[in-house]
Amino acid sequence: MPIQRKTAWLALTLLAWLASPPTQANPAAEPDPDPRVHLHMTTSERAQFLSEMRQMLISIQGVMQGIATEDRTAIIEAARYSGNRMARATPQSLRDKLPMEFKQLGAPTHMLFEEIVIRAETDDMADIAEVAAQALANCAACHAQFRAD
Ligand code: HEC
Repeated sequence: MPIQRKTAWLALTLLAWLASPPTQANPAAEPDPDPRVHLHMTTSERAQFLSEMRQMLISIQGVMQGIATEDRTAIIEAARYSGNRMARATPQSLRDKLPMEFKQLGAPTHMLFEEIVIRAETDDMADIAEVAAQALANCAACHAQFRAD
């Protein structure tokens, strides 16, 4: 190859290399497709937290089942699992890192389960269902905002 053509070839190769996108994209530069706020839980905090979440799902399922069969005892038992007892079980280390917006949705949700426990004694099933629906709205609102990791 004559020297001039060789230089031109090298220049072109260099240009092509400069113009090409980097093979390894910089993760920091990519927009996160998941807009939820990270709670930065440790692996063990997350495991315990998600286990409580699954318990809340079982609770609300039990409440709905109890409403459908008008079984007040079943409603009370199901709701009690996710009331204040669960709220108090949150370890201090985790409590310290949870943002205010999270707590403002979390605490009232546990209180709604306590309210279901009390109302299940005497209230109409439709009224209890209304409180359960409020609790479910809180579940949805928080899930839209936060992620455990
Ligand atoms: C204050 C916030 C908050 C409230 C209220 C809340 N959750 Fe969650 N929940 C979360 C977060 C955060 C996660 C983890 C999501 C992630 O990391 O992707 C989660 C995860 C879950 C999961 C998945 C568990 C698993 O094993 O992965 C279930 C089920 C769940 N929640 C049920 C409920 C139900 C039912 C309610 C309402 C009765 C509820 N949650 C209320 C914050 C909340």
